[in-house]
Amino acid sequence: MEYRPIGIFDSGFGGLTVLKEIEQALPQYDYLYFGDNARAPYGSRSFETVYAYTLEAVQWLFNRGCPLVILACNTASAKALRTIQQKDLARIAPERRVLGVIRPVTEMVGKMTRSRHIGILATAGTVASQSYVIETNKYFPDVTVVQEACPMWVPLVENNEFAGNGADYFVRHHINRLLGADPLVDTVVLGCTHYPLLEKKISRYLSAGIAVISQGAIVAQSLADYLLRHAEIAERCTTQGRRDFYSSETAEVFERSAILFYGRPIHCRQKS
Ligand code: DGL
Repeated sequence: MEYRPIGIFDSGFGGLTVLKEIEQALPQYDYLYFGDNARAPYGSRSFETVYAYTLEAVQWLFNRGCPLVILACNTASAKALRTIQQKDLARIAPERRVLGVIRPVTEMVGKMTRSRHIGILATAGTVASQSYVIETNKYFPDVTVVQEACPMWVPLVENNEFAGNGADYFVRHHINRLLGADPLVDTVVLGCTHYPLLEKKISRYLSAGIAVISQGAIVAQSLADYLLRHAEIAERCTTQGRRDFYSSETAEVFERSAILFYGRPIHCRQKS
């Protein structure tokens, strides 16, 4: 049977929070997930390294038959997507597509904010790339974007400490810094795959009336729209409802923590 899944790439587990929402919106498609856990986190890595690792992953997913790859990782979307789309695709696979998670979210929040001031919480790498600022201001030049890097949040989540009291200190610290930098913010974007797990605590330290935006559902809706608008890509993706999971780490390590992000057990294989 033909198998041409939609590829979902993340630096590790986090993209599972995005896949979960995509699957809910588009359950019929086949999905091939690859998490580069052996080399995660990407959030603190250089532009060159994130770009090289992401391109390698995209090529691997193309070689497994994916007509379309979603970079579910914000850091990879921020640091590698544009170069892959503008430079590499024409050379390696002109008929295939790679999409990221930043553009759909900025399109949505730019329409939502009333104060025209939005806040971005993300990894240091995503913040340094300025991608959220650039993408937002492309369509909404009147919106002020303030960013805050939260380097401790990914390890808190990965170590299953996101619900504990220890997490409160780091969440409060970064929320205070974000709102201190711009008290007019009325919409806050969780610009990292891991932050939805901290959403309860994040909301606790934001004043009522500030909207918190998780990207999974927005990315899922945007993918559904994309497939409607691009029948030539949609037709190439197979629809047997199949799910495959690969990690650059051992299957055991991936399976142990994946449930935190995906909500149910996963059978994973190690990428050779
Ligand atoms: N997946 C990354 C992101 O969304 C977070 C984890 C990492 O730093 O690798 O930015």
